[in-house]
Order: sequence, then C-alpha cells, then structure tokens
Amino acid sequence: MLEDVQKGLEGVLVAESGLSSIDGDAGRLIYRGYNIETLAREATYEEVLYLLWHGELPTSEELEEFAGSIQDEREIDADVLEIVRRQAVADEEPMAALRTAVSALSMSEPEDDADPEDLDATLRKSRRITAKIPTILAAFERYRLGEAPVDPHPDLGLAANFLYMLTGEEPDPVAAETIDQALILHADHGLNASTFTSMVIASTMADVYSAVTGGIGALSGPLHGGANQDVMEVLIEVDESDRDPLEWVKNAVDEGRRIPGFGHRVYNVKDPRAKILQERCAELAEANGDEKWYDYTTTIEQYLTEEQGLVEKGIAPNVDFYSGTVYYQLGIPVDMYTPIFAMSRVGGWVGHVLEYQDDNRLIRPRGRYIGPDDAEWVPIEER
Ligand code: SDX
Repeated sequence: MLEDVQKGLEGVLVAESGLSSIDGDAGRLIYRGYNIETLAREATYEEVLYLLWHGELPTSEELEEFAGSIQDEREIDADVLEIVRRQAVADEEPMAALRTAVSALSMSEPEDDADPEDLDATLRKSRRITAKIPTILAAFERYRLGEAPVDPHPDLGLAANFLYMLTGEEPDPVAAETIDQALILHADHGLNASTFTSMVIASTMADVYSAVTGGIGALSGPLHGGANQDVMEVLIEVDESDRDPLEWVKNAVDEGRRIPGFGHRVYNVKDPRAKILQERCAELAEANGDEKWYDYTTTIEQYLTEEQGLVEKGIAPNVDFYSGTVYYQLGIPVDMYTPIFAMSRVGGWVGHVLEYQDDNRLIRPRGRYIGPDDAEWVPIEER
C-alpha cells in the first residue's frame, strides 16, 4: 500500500488509456494520437466520437453508418419529455435536469437485461444516450421559453440539430460549425474528475446509464465543467459594473477572488483548447461587429498573465476561459454552457468506460484511519 496520502489523487496513475494524452508543460492534447488542432480543423464531432470509441478514424461508409445510427436514436419518449417539462417549469438548474432526464432514459432502454460484460450492448446504449442528450437539453430550453419542443431534424448532424431544436430554424453554417468544433474540443481529456467518476461507477460493472449520470453530476461542479458559466457571469458582471475590465479585474484580484477559467490540475501553460476557442471568439466578434466580449476576455487574461504573472506560476487560461464568450455570441443561454460541455464529454465518459470495462478491475482505493480505537460503549442513559 502507498504510504503517503495523495489528496485529490494528485499525480496518481490509476489506469493506462489510449484515448487521450495531455502534455501539461507543452500545452498539447491528442486524441488517439491526433493533435487536437488537427481534429478541430478537419473532423466532425461524430468522426471524433467514432475515433474515441473504436480507436481509429472511420471510412466514409463507417461514418455514414455511425452518424446515421445516432440520428436514428434522437427521439425521447413521452415519459422522459414530461420529466424534462416538469423540471423546466420548476426552473430546475439545466445540469440537474439533464442528470435526472438521462437517468430516466433507462426506463425506455430496450436492452435493460443486457449483460454488463457485453460491451457491444454498452456501445448501443451509449449511442442512444449520446443521441438523446441534445434532444433533452433543447426540449428543456424550449419548455423554459414556454414553447413546444422541436422534433429532431432527420438529416442534420448532432451539433446542427441541437441548434435547430433550440429555434426550429436550420442554423447558420458558421454557428453549426462553431458548436461542432466546441464539441470536438470538449470530447475527452484524460482522467478528469467526471471521467474518473464514470470509470469508478463502471468498474463495479454497473450500467452505462449510471456511469453517465455520475459523470454529469461531477461535471456540474464549478471547479470542473461549471467554470464556463462562471466565466461568462464574470464578464457580464464587468459589463454591468461602472468599471472597465482592467479596473474590474485589478479589484477582483485585490479582493482575493479566484478568476474562473484560469488554472488547471495538469496544464501549467495555456490550454490548447483555449487557444482554438479564442480564435473562434475573435472571428465571431468580427463577424458580429461587436468586439466587446472578446476585449473583456483578452484584457482579463492579459492582466492575470502579465501583470499578475500567474502563468509563471503555472496558472493559465483553461478551456472554460473562452468557451463562454463563444457561446454567448451565438445567443446560447449562459446556464446551457455546462450542459453543452456534457453533450460533448459523454463521448469521453463512454470511451473510458468501454476501455476500462474491457480489462476491468474494481476501483477501490484505501484511506488511512485516524479516528479513535477501542472506544468503550456507554449506554445512552449514561451519556
Ligand atoms: C476543467 O481535469 C481536467 O482535465 C478538467 C478539464 C476537462 O477538460 O475535463 O480541463 C475541464 O474543469 C477546467 C478547469 C475549470 N475550473 C476552473 O476554471 C475553476 C478555477 N480554477 C481552479 O479552481 C483550479 O485551478 C482547478 C480546480 C482547476 C485546479 O485546481 P488544483 O490543481 O487543485 O490547484 P489548486 O486549487 O491547488 O491551485 C494551485 C495554485 C494555488 O495557489 P497557492 O494557494 O498554491 O499559492 O494555483 C492557484 C491557487 O490559489 N490558482 C489560482 C486559480 N486557480 C488556481 N489563482 C488564481 N486564479 C485561479 N483561477
């Protein structure tokens, strides 16, 4: 047994994986050997899902069949839709609504009795969950607006269909491509907290619905996926304050506030995904003729990086620092940013579940007991 407690499992190797690798010093991320920059530029989200789940890029026939199998599973049944509606009416947090609705999907799972060791069945279930998450989220947002959900579009890809179900209009190609790229960037990232959560659940040979529901719960926290919403809320706070962003961030730092979107357990330099999203953010700002949000974000980054020297301390912008500004410029509600992260990361959760269960070992660490020993029992009358 290891003697020293590694709080937060910092630096502890618990598995080997071929899905993704992060070089925290070089700021490099690869999925199955492919640079994230290449995938973000050349691939589609469905192509990356296939790569993560099957280990290689698909041929055009394989991709057509795979993407088609996901398109065929987009509908959610009336019981789940009613659960979504009731949560929207109750003004539930979107990530909590997603967690509940994904768990409820198992009610209509046609292979309930599948052997958990049957990874092909797990793959089929995973396709169903991945296909339905965008439908759940779009229906939730429509119900919140007092509108009826829009049925999934039969021909659009996952990202474009999500935008279509939000508005009922076929999305602008730039918006669709931007969301598709964001889904690629968020798909997998080693053994982050939500992925590891899914693996722990899967290591007991529990079903993939349990693993994904656990992943959603872990991702919702502000130290993890919830940070993208926090970043946008900070930028809106700046916009509504009577201070310019530089004055605002100086004040925030003086008050000892931790700026969301900065810092990472693995990256000591700027997250390569943040660099790609920053470019996308600049393009959208130019196309919209409104550089404000981009300027706020870069001003805060510059101050923290240069004036505060955070990057020298290994505290740099992570994926969440620019993703919010991208989504905001597409008109997506702020509390839907982390759900979009989940819509993408389900690909990584499932990829790691399939990989780990293929050579499974129950994940069960140890804790050092520091409580009393040989305590003497005292009857309640004498306490
Ligand atoms: C994601 O793991 C992944 O791969 C996650 C992710 C993925 O794709 O799955 O990349 C997605 O979750 C990105 C991270 C999103 N979270 C945030 O942006 C929240 C703000 N950042 C942090 O709270 C923090 O940086 C964490 C939680 C992300 C990482 O925390 P660690 O590794 O436990 O580091 P720490 O909290 O111990 O901080 C180390 C030092 C501290 O300084 P000292 O007290 O040692 O002097 O860095 C400082 C911290 O004070 N620090 C910050 C800071 N984050 C850390 N200082 C100022 N601002 C910040 N945002």
